[in-house]
Amino acid sequence: VIRSIVRGCGSYLPGRCLTNEELSAMVDTSDEWIVQRTGIKQRHIAADGEVTSDLAVEAAKAALLNAGMDAQEIDTIILATATPDNTFPATAVTVQSRLGIYHGAAFDVHAVCSGFVYAMATADAYIRSGLSRKCLVIGAETFSRILDWNDRTTCVLFGDGAGALVLEAGEGEGTVADTGILTTHLRSDGRHKDKLFVDGGPSSTQTVGHLRMEGREVFKHAVGMITDVIEDAFTATGTTAEDLDWFIPHQANKRIIDASAKKLSIDPAKVVTTVQWHGNTSAASIPLAVDTAVRDGRVKPGDLVMLEAMGGGFTWGSVLLRW
Ligand code: ACO
Repeated sequence: VIRSIVRGCGSYLPGRCLTNEELSAMVDTSDEWIVQRTGIKQRHIAADGEVTSDLAVEAAKAALLNAGMDAQEIDTIILATATPDNTFPATAVTVQSRLGIYHGAAFDVHAVCSGFVYAMATADAYIRSGLSRKCLVIGAETFSRILDWNDRTTCVLFGDGAGALVLEAGEGEGTVADTGILTTHLRSDGRHKDKLFVDGGPSSTQTVGHLRMEGREVFKHAVGMITDVIEDAFTATGTTAEDLDWFIPHQANKRIIDASAKKLSIDPAKVVTTVQWHGNTSAASIPLAVDTAVRDGRVKPGDLVMLEAMGGGFTWGSVLLRW
């Protein structure tokens, strides 16, 4: 069978790091409150004029270098973002041209915090169907641009960044021992669309707007909802939580991550957490966490890795892969 094999990964964080202490001087909050409720200690913020495609290009270059692959080999770029440079064209085509690629296809996927999981599932479907052989999957966001910096209930939670994986078509036996993506599961339920949204848009207000969230509602659903897509992944592959080497969830909040791992009986030692350093970078959080765990030597070839995310929509999904 055709498998989508991970050839490399990379990430990029803007140079400016905003600490909880600095935030405490901007809104009525404290390091103690933020750390206790979310686990976040700092987040990176894009410089003036630094846009999502800038972050994406840096992450893509790092991933290509790590894969030992020339940009010209890439035939498909799938970029997950909720903060594109423009309403259109897709930020992916800017990345494509900045990488000097003038062939193949590039497009954006929009599923907010679940964007990277959606992009991975799309890339896997493209590769397995023969539409793509070498695919760059990117998650890149500049959430700092859509935050209401006077709203302490949301502005403390998010950060900017980008991460990327290079996938290539390869052969597998069709068993769980194969290298590459083993199974993907996506869900959404638009009845919850008003619990986490940006209050504006090209068709409704012709403005960009700000992120609005019912924090408690999101928290409640986050832990409840993701379980099904993870159990679907286990069922589809005949695996269990014990078989996992690493659980790399979307990095929204340490309490959500801990509660999810506990509910799924995943050993806390197998959970990769970067939210303390990055905040919630939406679609960028998973590839940023993957790259962190690969570079520090935790994720190694042959490891069974579960990616999982939940976000606005609500949308949620899982990707089970062998590194
Ligand atoms: N600093 C200090 N106090 C604050 C802050 C802040 N930054 N924000 C809110 N408070 C206050 C509130 O005003 C409230 O005060 P009150 O009791 O006097 O009214 C009090 O703290 C408690 O507020 P709650 O909203 O009830 O606090 P809660 O314990 O629910 O924590 C939080 C809020 C952290 C947002 C939590 O609900 C949460 O983690 N939700 C999930 C949100 C999330 O992660 N979203 C990410 C996007 S979705 C995704 O990626 C999955």
